[in-house]
Amino acid sequence: MSGTEDIRALEAELSAAIAAAADEAALEAVRVEALGKKGRVSLLMRGLGAMSPEERQTMGPALNGLKDRLNAALAERKQALEQAALSAALAAERADVTLPPRPEAMGSIHPVTQVMEELAVIFSDMGFTVAEGPDIEDDFHNFTALNFPPGHPARDTQDTFFMQPRADGSQMVLRTHTSPVQIRTMMSVKPPIRIIVPGRVYRCDWDQTHTPMFHQVEGLVIDRAAHMGHLKGVLMDFIAAFFETDEVRVRFRPHYFPFTEPSAEMDVGYSRDGETLKIGAGDSWLEILGCGMVHPNVIRNCGLDPDVYQGFAWGMGVDRLAMLKYGAPDLRDFFANDVRWLAHYGFSPLLQANLATGLS
Ligand code: DAH
Repeated sequence: MSGTEDIRALEAELSAAIAAAADEAALEAVRVEALGKKGRVSLLMRGLGAMSPEERQTMGPALNGLKDRLNAALAERKQALEQAALSAALAAERADVTLPPRPEAMGSIHPVTQVMEELAVIFSDMGFTVAEGPDIEDDFHNFTALNFPPGHPARDTQDTFFMQPRADGSQMVLRTHTSPVQIRTMMSVKPPIRIIVPGRVYRCDWDQTHTPMFHQVEGLVIDRAAHMGHLKGVLMDFIAAFFETDEVRVRFRPHYFPFTEPSAEMDVGYSRDGETLKIGAGDSWLEILGCGMVHPNVIRNCGLDPDVYQGFAWGMGVDRLAMLKYGAPDLRDFFANDVRWLAHYGFSPLLQANLATGLS
């Protein structure tokens, strides 16, 4: 190689190789072949030292120019290849956000949440709305207004968690039931009232069927002419819808609650088929809830006239309903956060409970 002619031929050859490089690895190979330590252009430049001064004067600038142009062409081609690789990756890895979610979603709906959703669906279909109240209650709402007289032994039956006494000596409590929301509602809403109250409640207790925090749902109807027959109808319809059965056998046993008169506990009939309980019919009885006609004192305590308004109420354990319906044997597992339990007993977050296609 001796003249600018050959340099032009070399440039044409290398430029063609650069243009033809299909990916960055191929382009790097061309760069090494041309400009690497032992590259063809590098070797020519090393040869400059052996040339005559005249020769060097033409060949020096020619080779430097070649080197600059090749570097520029390499950089340009590299950028083009990177751009093409990026476009290809974007096209290949594009996420189609219109696709339906994968079935193996990680999270699941806790059975307690599921049952609360089901209760809301069933009772809203009957014209009830959902009401809520605070977990930390005062004595008035949790006990006094509900017709628990001060010092009455019924206060002890609830294993109450008391907060530290305040300066005035009063003590807030962790609500022992959802019934205080009856009071809050009657004191703020003009009848007719039809509410259910799902929520957390607290009692100092711990065994297979008791945890210090659990869930209740309260029901309250206040109107001018509500009576026990309505109570019975509402609860029987609820059992039929919740356990998805047409056979509903219930019985009401007289009971005592300070806030209802008369008071009852409702049992549902069931039969046992091996390990599973069939709720609805059968010769055995299972206690499901407490209920009754709202005590006139309670109505009066809320500023309503018991000669005008009356109503009925009930309260039941949500966790217990979940155990019965979905067959989980130990209540403590509900709150252990074991992902295997949650995967087994949990529900798909994508399936909303509804009465048209089924609750669960
Ligand atoms: N508050 C009661 C409890 O926890 C349950 C209850 C019984 C609620 C009868 C009611 C009712 O509204 O009428 O144990």
